[in-house]
Amino acid sequence: MADRYDLLLRGGTVATPAGLASIDIGVRDGRIAALGDLSRAEAAETQDCTGLHVLPGVIDSQVHFREPGGEHKEDLETGTAGAAAGGVTAIFEMPNTSPLTTSAEALQDKLDRAAGRAWVDHAFFVGGTAANAHRLAELERLPGSAGVKIFMGSSTGDLLSEDDGTIARVMANGVRRVSVHAEDEMRLRERKTMVESGAPARMHPEWRDVETAVRATKRILSLSAAARRRVHVLHVTTGEEMTILAGHKDLATVEATPQHLTFAGPDCYDRLGSRAQMNPPIRDAAQRDTLWRAIASGVVDVLGSDHAPHTLEEKAKPYPESPSGMTGVQTLVPVMLDHVAAGRLTLERLVDLTSAGPARIFGIAGKGRIVVGYDADFTIVDLKARRTITDSWIRSRSAWTPYDGVEVTGWPIATIVRGMAVMREDELLEGPRGAPVRFQECLP
Ligand code: DOR
Repeated sequence: MADRYDLLLRGGTVATPAGLASIDIGVRDGRIAALGDLSRAEAAETQDCTGLHVLPGVIDSQVHFREPGGEHKEDLETGTAGAAAGGVTAIFEMPNTSPLTTSAEALQDKLDRAAGRAWVDHAFFVGGTAANAHRLAELERLPGSAGVKIFMGSSTGDLLSEDDGTIARVMANGVRRVSVHAEDEMRLRERKTMVESGAPARMHPEWRDVETAVRATKRILSLSAAARRRVHVLHVTTGEEMTILAGHKDLATVEATPQHLTFAGPDCYDRLGSRAQMNPPIRDAAQRDTLWRAIASGVVDVLGSDHAPHTLEEKAKPYPESPSGMTGVQTLVPVMLDHVAAGRLTLERLVDLTSAGPARIFGIAGKGRIVVGYDADFTIVDLKARRTITDSWIRSRSAWTPYDGVEVTGWPIATIVRGMAVMREDELLEGPRGAPVRFQECLP
């Protein structure tokens, strides 16, 4: 009797841990059940992947979905719909919502809100502060927790752990890797007068300068060593930090974002104004080149989108009252595939940065590789498709993208979460059935 699967992906080029392979994938009960020549197998549903590449599901480990408190910008349904539309199968969401995600109740509230409304799998970071430091060992282990996040410099919202004493207390409680926004709040405060109302947005990287980022990254590495606790430095923007971080791979993992790899000042500020404003800032082309070198050398462990939507009305306020952040969860895959098409990184390296990398550094259980027994999460892409990214394609409630009008080569064709096709050819299907991501250190 022929083997029978719930779903068969036939004829694609599959990104396995051993390299690209022309094999079929059989899915049963939401997991990968077989890999190889499955031409004699039967299935309830078969997807022809001829001419397409099947990647392990893309995990975006840094998004801000604004619920609760900022639903006019985004919510868990619209944010995860954007993820599914963009080929992302799992997201980790940030704690700078209102109220802040700093308690077990606030974490459970997000999980409850996501149930039946999230299109993709999800986990939520818990914010680390002076007030909850003593409870973090317990909070970081709760189901659905992605771990602890700290803001060393202020950005959107009220979450801030600016001084070494507070950060040391946060680091002293718990064992999981702590994710860090590394900008030095004291230096930001000293220099804020540079950007009094009405200054051009191109001043953003002058105010939040290289030294602001470098100081914070040096401080977090010392604190990490002292606490014997590993850290993950989010959205690194300077070559100076990459050099320092390359010397501390035992302590720190590193994230880069597609926007810091794609845009450069002053051009992006002249073209996009405050739409290019984010923290830490987009810097110049020379700094962008250093980020690409860190991608090539392996210093960078993951790509996260830092999807941080604000409405266009909010963005239209005069700088610096305009809020920092741009959408990105839906454009991560096409923008990075375009970089693959341009020869800036290989497809295998992209998979390492968006699937295997997050799984490795956060200890995700059963995701990030195409291996029998793993969750059947797939990002199916057409490396040759030429499409234009437009605001009208964007599912975020904020409904804009800094890539509006940009033509790319490479496009997500289908998003499959635990065997369920949630997107095909830009249409959302099946319904929102995302579930909490599980972590190895917190399995029951
Ligand atoms: O530009 C940013 N926006 N950087 C952050 O760290 C936060 C984010 C937001 O939440 O708007």
